[in-house]
Amino acid sequence: MKQSLIVLFVLCGFVAAMVPRDRRAVNTEDEELFKSQSTTMASDTANQPMICAKQTPCGWSIYRPISKYIEMNITNTYCICSATENCVVTDDDSTINAYIHHCRPADHEDTEQS
Ligand SMILES: *[C@@H]1O[C@H](CO)[C@@H](O)[C@H](O)[C@H]1NC(C)=O
Repeated sequence: MKQSLIVLFVLCGFVAAMVPRDRRAVNTEDEELFKSQSTTMASDTANQPMICAKQTPCGWSIYRPISKYIEMNITNTYCICSATENCVVTDDDSTINAYIHHCRPADHEDTEQS
């Protein structure tokens, strides 16, 4: 209980430190104004996770050790697959009882291009 509170505080501080000073001051009433001022500089990169590198898992499926019944699917919130890739199961890591998902090109079906 105490520990999770501490983690939460650390996380909050970390996020706050990453937000530029002028954005932190913005409240909901000013948001409209803020948006109109910053559409050119912030819209592309600010609120989207980056694209996962090839070796970076995009998700995990935690399963029960013996039955391998999937109990929980976890997606990586730090990065996502690009539009041309799918997040698919690539590894079965029995040491952590989870299927590991990686981004893989989604062009295997009938999307041949020339
Ligand atoms: C997790 O994802 C798999 C594959 O997409 C699906 O079959 C399963 O029902 C999901 N399980 C949960 C708990 O979301």
